[in-house]
Amino acid sequence: MKKKVLVGATNFSATCREAKELLEKNGFIVDENPHQRPYTREELKEIVGDYAAVSAGMESWDREILSLAKNLKVIGRFGVGYDNIDLKAAEELGITVAIAKGINGAAVATMAIGLMISVLRKIPMFDRTTREGQWVRAMGSDLDGKKVGLLGFGDIAQKTAKRLSGFDVEILAYDLFPNEEAARSLNVKLTDKDTLLRECDIISCHLPNLPETRHTMNEAAFARMKPTAIFINTSRGPLVDEAALYQALKEGVIAGAGIDVYEQEPIRPDNPLLTLDNIVCTPHTSAETNEVCARVGLNTAQNIVDYFNGKNPFYTITRKPFDEA
Ligand SMILES: NC(=O)c1ccc[n+]([C@@H]2O[C@H](COP(=O)([O-])OP(=O)(O)OC[C@H]3O[C@@H](n4cnc5c(N)ncnc54)[C@H](O)[C@@H]3O)[C@@H](O)[C@H]2O)c1
Repeated sequence: MKKKVLVGATNFSATCREAKELLEKNGFIVDENPHQRPYTREELKEIVGDYAAVSAGMESWDREILSLAKNLKVIGRFGVGYDNIDLKAAEELGITVAIAKGINGAAVATMAIGLMISVLRKIPMFDRTTREGQWVRAMGSDLDGKKVGLLGFGDIAQKTAKRLSGFDVEILAYDLFPNEEAARSLNVKLTDKDTLLRECDIISCHLPNLPETRHTMNEAAFARMKPTAIFINTSRGPLVDEAALYQALKEGVIAGAGIDVYEQEPIRPDNPLLTLDNIVCTPHTSAETNEVCARVGLNTAQNIVDYFNGKNPFYTITRKPFDEA
């Protein structure tokens, strides 16, 4: 009987034709997410029992869902963040998890810089008011001459630093496990978190979402920032206390923000952040380009095919089943 693959990521047929062909050529039946949103837990509970493999989007793969997925052998995460997968439960249940390491970082880095420029130069506001027939020629602020602080200095932060090298900016970074060689080669000054928050004009968050990083950006952290500074988050929503961000933006504790990720996704329409003028919001789309989706889709499909051919998928983050003989 043919094995079934569940695709959690959205728009799979449209952006990942090659990946779908690879899976079908290798004898898999591919079931795509028909929604423009992640599957809900209730939807997953109904269907997971049928699948041998998953190309996982942002839906929740917690212990309960994984336990119901009796035939599931491998999850290829459609991206690099795996905070929606209970790795411990997956390991205990013998489910291999792989991520698409190093593929979408450039797109996310580009989006982080796009958000910096959008906030500094007020591009969304100018677009809206010009379409409305107004001629609002308010002043923006330069990216050149600014001090940019990267909170976390892993793959995406380093790619952001590389892309920022074309601007006349000074770059600082804070990381618990700092990569000094990368910092030297990218002309980035490593520093502590407090200095980064106090000195920088732009703080861009690139941390992983872990219990110890939750609400890294809270009331105290925003209070350390300059009132002229802006905050960018293309990382994960739970890193930021959104109530504190709202207060900081509303009361002028900081000047602006560019936000791609939220504590609750999709964002609720009544989220107070959406009432503010000094924030630019995007719907978790930093990695969503046709080129990246095609490459990430192919990577997750190849991981699934490799697994069932007795090979370890590329960049496995739970056990590597075929090493241990
Ligand atoms: N918005 C999107 O569409 C999108 C797409 C891809 C990735 N992401 C997110 O971007 C983030 C960064 O991804 P990456 O590939 O650069 O990850 P990475 O693992 O390469 O880098 C993370 C860095 O954070 C550091 N770190 C870990 N814990 C820390 C702590 N407590 N304090 C300080 N530093 C700490 C690590 O040492 C590492 O250098 C992740 O949260 C990921 O989920 C978002």
